Amino acid sequence: MEHGTACRLLFQHCRVIMPHHPVTEIPMTPTPTLPEHFTKAERYQAILPQIEGLLRADADLWTANLANINALLAETFGWFWVGFYLVDNTGTELQLSAFQGPVACTRIAHNRGVCGQAWAQGKTLIVPNVHEHPDHIACSSRSQSEIVVPLRNRRGHIIGVLDIDSEHLNQFDETDAQYLQQICAMLPEILTAPEIA
Ligand code: SME
Repeated sequence: MEHGTACRLLFQHCRVIMPHHPVTEIPMTPTPTLPEHFTKAERYQAILPQIEGLLRADADLWTANLANINALLAETFGWFWVGFYLVDNTGTELQLSAFQGPVACTRIAHNRGVCGQAWAQGKTLIVPNVHEHPDHIACSSRSQSEIVVPLRNRRGHIIGVLDIDSEHLNQFDETDAQYLQQICAMLPEILTAPEIA
């Protein structure tokens, strides 16, 4: 690739190519093909160092890191939708940001849907059956259960949410809440991107 930046996962290395810059090789932990018998907690524990490595490698990049977190979570757990909604400049709505999965709604008002309520309440919300949630916003008929985790900046203000949907009922519990909150907390701790200031 001649222009821009190309990131290629070759064996266990990420090769970053930038025009007018020397080629640098960033050693990375490979995306693990985790043993099937691994528990949910063991899966999170396996990817946490990888997420930390990705964040530290490019701490100034915002969207790229959100996208890679989505990719790792989707690949590790097989969830059909993983993505971030971010609070807009006026502080009135969530707007769709980096995600993996089918097309989704682009704007969610404060205190509407599971995402807007997690934002308004400032806490993680677990929905075992989305069909029983009175204000669930159905972006896809495939969604059966959902978890939404607030994302805070370095000053502790909520700047968005991490939203995950499963095609199966009852897929999320306190283990997910604990580890996903830990992942969201890594962003303000590690990233230098202005979006998380
Ligand atoms: N179900 C969410 C909307 C976003 S989609 O699931 C991607 C909600 O109720 O807020």
